[in-house]
Amino acid sequence: MNTLVATQLQQAAATDFLPLQGTDYVEFYVGNAKQAAHFYRTAFGFQALAYAGPETGVKDKASYAIRQNKLTFVFTTALRTDNAIADHVYKHGDGVKFLSLRVNDATDAWQQTTSRGAKSFMEPTRLSDADGEVVMSGIHTYGDTVHLFIERNNYNGAFLPGFVAWNTPYYNPTETGLLYVDHCVGNVGWNQMNPWVKFYEEVMGFRNILSFDDNDISTEYSALMSKVMSNGNGYVKFPINEPAEGKKKSQVEEYLDFYNGEGVQHVALATNNIIETVTALRDRGVEFLRVPGSYYDTVLDRVGTIDEDLAPLRELGILIDRDEEGYLLQIFTKPVEDRPTLFFEIIQRKGAKSFGKGNFKALFEALEREQDLRGNL
Ligand code: FE2
Repeated sequence: MNTLVATQLQQAAATDFLPLQGTDYVEFYVGNAKQAAHFYRTAFGFQALAYAGPETGVKDKASYAIRQNKLTFVFTTALRTDNAIADHVYKHGDGVKFLSLRVNDATDAWQQTTSRGAKSFMEPTRLSDADGEVVMSGIHTYGDTVHLFIERNNYNGAFLPGFVAWNTPYYNPTETGLLYVDHCVGNVGWNQMNPWVKFYEEVMGFRNILSFDDNDISTEYSALMSKVMSNGNGYVKFPINEPAEGKKKSQVEEYLDFYNGEGVQHVALATNNIIETVTALRDRGVEFLRVPGSYYDTVLDRVGTIDEDLAPLRELGILIDRDEEGYLLQIFTKPVEDRPTLFFEIIQRKGAKSFGKGNFKALFEALEREQDLRGNL
């Protein structure tokens, strides 16, 4: 890194009023947390981590935390109907509730963001048990989604106070090479992308690092617009999509219809070996979007030389794109629930810092074929 860039980074760090260490965990509100945790362990290779529920003194919900490398997912369900979790699932189906961010000071993070206009979800709250203490706070973002700030420098337990370590004597599937959250994408309503871009800029100190208009992201039929927001050190990236007018219904509009509002569209999970990871995921039944085989006839003309053989990429349906800094390999699952809402991206970056713009057209045509099969195009 040259001196100028290093100095700029130092200056950016010094003025970053919301320093984030990365994603702490992603929590999903679901209809059946026991089965959801089983699915992500069996199909995606997460390991049992921690549990909270009636057996641990929690009366109205059950939560299962699972982990793979730096990825922590939590699945929470309501045990009774008169309950905010039950309402969330009734309205949205299974979906992401909390995008939790690791901070050094959850009290300061809450003060910095609420003083800039964020709506508080949770005031700074100290939780403790025999393993130490965690400070949590939270603010609302788009839809019913919430950012929690997690300060856990003085905690040595399995996950969070209130959870017990989950040691299961039953089947523990092996990992699949998933490493950490690369980015999380939100779908917002018509004309709502720019207000949410402004929210991330003003309230959370993020920068808009890339923008795609409907000319970049459109097929013959449908369109969307997207802006990528990044925090100061680049550890946390939140692209924001909104629908755009096309001949037919935008995929973002289909999401908004079925999620009943704004929410997380996809979470991108990083791997260091996408061929091995996707092979393992497919073997365990994870379903992926497919682009036509003809994509591979011309892809190397577009992206140039790559380290991998093309044959396994074609076989698995992995997409390739290149920017000024390198290339990336990516693939998208089909929605992971019956509603056409949340899905996952698997991504391997080989220098590229972008998001696969060169694949948008092929990808969205594949997506529309699925949308058409559901009768929603
Ligand atoms: Fe993505």
